[in-house]
Amino acid sequence: MPLSREQMLVEMGISPLWMLREPVSSETPEPVAVAAPVAPATPAQPVLPAPIAPPGAVAEFDWPALLAGIADCRACELCKQRRQVVPGVGDRNPDWLFIGEGPGAEEDARGEPFVGQAGRLLDAMLEALGMTRGNKVYIANAVKCRPPNNRTPEAAEMAACRPWLERQIVLLKPRVIVLLGKAAAHTILGNDSALAAMRGKRFEYAGIPVAVTYHPAYLLRNQFDKGKAWEDLLFARRLLRSGNT
Ligand code: URA
Repeated sequence: MPLSREQMLVEMGISPLWMLREPVSSETPEPVAVAAPVAPATPAQPVLPAPIAPPGAVAEFDWPALLAGIADCRACELCKQRRQVVPGVGDRNPDWLFIGEGPGAEEDARGEPFVGQAGRLLDAMLEALGMTRGNKVYIANAVKCRPPNNRTPEAAEMAACRPWLERQIVLLKPRVIVLLGKAAAHTILGNDSALAAMRGKRFEYAGIPVAVTYHPAYLLRNQFDKGKAWEDLLFARRLLRSGNT
């Protein structure tokens, strides 16, 4: 039986709502910070093999070409240990795009992002907002292949993978992007600030409003920050609803 919204909030550890320490304004958020799309960072050392498809070509890809390109990608060392690529999942005409770090062991095995414990929390967060991953929601990662031992992807790996993500965003045309954790914020915004400093600010990528929040895996270890993540999701929803998209 599907959980009620109240049960979902309990599942996220953030119920009752009045326990939130900082009230959430219902005002349309002011534009605070705007980051232009950044050019892919050049790796400090040219140690990476050439991408299978030159970045210029990726910009022309449709979905089948994009998925085939990702499946064949050898642009960084992560390809060597993957069982399969994890391109992304969900509605290809989404309102929301969530971007995480990179696949873990379960995602590598199943070829779908966020299917492990962190994924179950992400699903609970979506349900608390009245959404599911297949309906107006798309989920992707900064890198499409599993980093060994679930480590954070390196900047050069995210840069190598970035043309795929950029093309996904162009094809998806989401109305709001939510960056889950610092790695995603780094690759999309080119912003290396502390995550706490990015929360609650309106960023922009290619004209699309962007919000930053904690990674669900972090929230599993830091239950008390779930309330802040809930605030961030409400903030993102206001960005979407402000029609400023
Ligand atoms: N963490 C991520 O960042 N992405 C996944 O797909 C799974 C866990």
